[in-house]
Amino acid sequence: MDNQNLKVLLPREDIAATVRKLAADITRDYHDKNPILIGILKGAFVFMADLVRCLNFPLELEFVRLASYSGTQSTGQLKMLQTLPCPVEGRHVLVIEDIIDTGLTTAFIMGYVKTKSPASLKLCALLDKPARRCAPVDIDYLGFTVPDRFVVGYGLDYDQKYRNLPDVCVLEAKP
Ligand code: XMP
Ligand code: MG
Repeated sequence: MDNQNLKVLLPREDIAATVRKLAADITRDYHDKNPILIGILKGAFVFMADLVRCLNFPLELEFVRLASYSGTQSTGQLKMLQTLPCPVEGRHVLVIEDIIDTGLTTAFIMGYVKTKSPASLKLCALLDKPARRCAPVDIDYLGFTVPDRFVVGYGLDYDQKYRNLPDVCVLEAKP
């Protein structure tokens, strides 16, 4: 940890403007649908908290918890640590992710929700890191595309650290 630097990639003001834009798009599409927004813990918690406070219509919130990462490397293993506690059959579901990297986590969760027969299923992600994609993922609402660097802050962690940073930062080795 001591041999790493943080460099701001997405300042908080840019994130806030983008969250407002995403919220406007989501409002247009969901204002009369009483959707269920499913946040993927832990990373999406800050994004989800800011996003839903810009949504002024009836909706419900749920969370699922998956684990696929240890440090900055994917372990390649996906574990469902907390499943969906409510029925989503016949409901309009919007999954909220922090970042799509290989796409494996998102493909897994979208497949899981699909088996529960929602009326519709879409994906909203704050960040897309397409460089290492190996599972195809359609992102319906996207904030930013980021380069192939490990990013932290605004909910994103490095070994559970830095989630509380207000900006999205790149974690770099010190020269
Ligand atoms: P996959 O590869 O399955 O990864 O698309 C999605 C999950 O991996 C985590 N992830 C990151 N977390 N900085 C992080 O803090 C990153 O640059 C990064 N890339 C992937 C994240 O938890 C995401 O939900
Ligand atoms: Mg993580």
